[in-house]
Amino acid sequence: MFVLVTGGSGYIGSHMVFSLLEAGHDIIVLDNLCNSSELSINRVREITGKKILFVQGDVRDRKVLNKLFSDYDVSDVLHFAGLKSVGESCCHPLMYYESNVAGTVVLCQAMAAAGVFNLVFSSSATVYGDGHPMPLHETLPTGSPTNPYGRSKLMIEMLLEDLTDSVHPWSIALLRYFNPIGAHESGVIGEDPLGVPNNLLPYLGQVAMGRRECVSIFGNDYPTLDGTGVRDYIHVMDLVEGHLCAMQAIHKSSGLRVWNLGTGRGYSVLEVIHTYEKISGCNIAYRMAPRRPGDVAACWADPGLAAKELGWKAKRGLNDMVRDAWYWQKKNPYGYQIS
Ligand code: NAD
Ligand code: WQD
Repeated sequence: MFVLVTGGSGYIGSHMVFSLLEAGHDIIVLDNLCNSSELSINRVREITGKKILFVQGDVRDRKVLNKLFSDYDVSDVLHFAGLKSVGESCCHPLMYYESNVAGTVVLCQAMAAAGVFNLVFSSSATVYGDGHPMPLHETLPTGSPTNPYGRSKLMIEMLLEDLTDSVHPWSIALLRYFNPIGAHESGVIGEDPLGVPNNLLPYLGQVAMGRRECVSIFGNDYPTLDGTGVRDYIHVMDLVEGHLCAMQAIHKSSGLRVWNLGTGRGYSVLEVIHTYEKISGCNIAYRMAPRRPGDVAACWADPGLAAKELGWKAKRGLNDMVRDAWYWQKKNPYGYQIS
């Protein structure tokens, strides 16, 4: 039986494929390569010495999906494929609703037609919206995400919830990620954003490498310990290990399950910058800039439910996350393309 990983050549998906292979699963990756390249999969093949079936295709493409499900015996689908830039989603909302929401509809239709009902979905803490006290627990009502990307995730959560109330025996996990960072400790796979990074960690890596002059800190007047934004950063390997646990757990019974994947601890932008400087030995120039629209002051998880129900807990701390992010960055200053 195969595990289908949509979006498997992307940042989180490639780490997932590594962990699944190590756990002994046979894998098919479906990715349209709109934000990645097959080089990541080649790297996973290299470090594991294992076979990975790769299909270049789109989750919105019914024919590709139907053929894939008829050619291979798939037991589980881990659905990472989608667009993830908040800023881009504000400029091109239809692109986001089509790729993320319509893509999930087509995927689920093909799964149902093939009788495959185990699905793990990459959701986001963004579905909680603003205004909750921290930490965020799964029992809190979802809120109003401030952008089309976040709203597409919330819509998908709702449509998947509807599926679990339907005639088919769906077993679905909604995994709400906090801020995944870092890389596999080998430095062979990691995060490779196209163009100017939107997220803090890859930006810091490029400043440390001398590719960019300085990082802008978006706001130093938040009600946090030092005025800068606080986030719950989670090592990407901890995150994917959480998926393995969730995949096992949903086999036990049908229905919808929701788990936060975070550490339960927040760090400010300045704390992250200082950790990066300490670990890399590089000076990271920064300047204070206005708040970024849509940002919240602070956000961190209550990871207790995943600990209780999945026996999963993030093991790696901020030093590990930054060490592995930096190692990847040093070994691959220009990502996968030129190394
Ligand atoms: P990524 O862009 O690196 O990976 C997504 C992959 O999906 C890419 O390889 C891309 O080529 C592929 N893809 C996009 N649209 C597709 C389509 N229509 N058909 C087939 N393939 C398609 O992003 P990531 O950081 O690895 O994120 C993976 C998932 O996790 C996404 O769904 C994202 O929304 C979610 N997520 C990410 C974060 C984060 O901070 N990275 C946080 C919360 C949730
Ligand atoms: C972290 C902190 C910034 C860049 C985003 C999405 C979210 C999810 C994860 C996908 C914040 C500050 C950042 C910079 C800065 N994605 N920052 N200068 O915004 O928490 O979450 O990625 O699902 O939906 O919104 O992550 O890494 O962009 O920012 O000061 O150049 O760093 O203001 O406080 P964020 P991030």
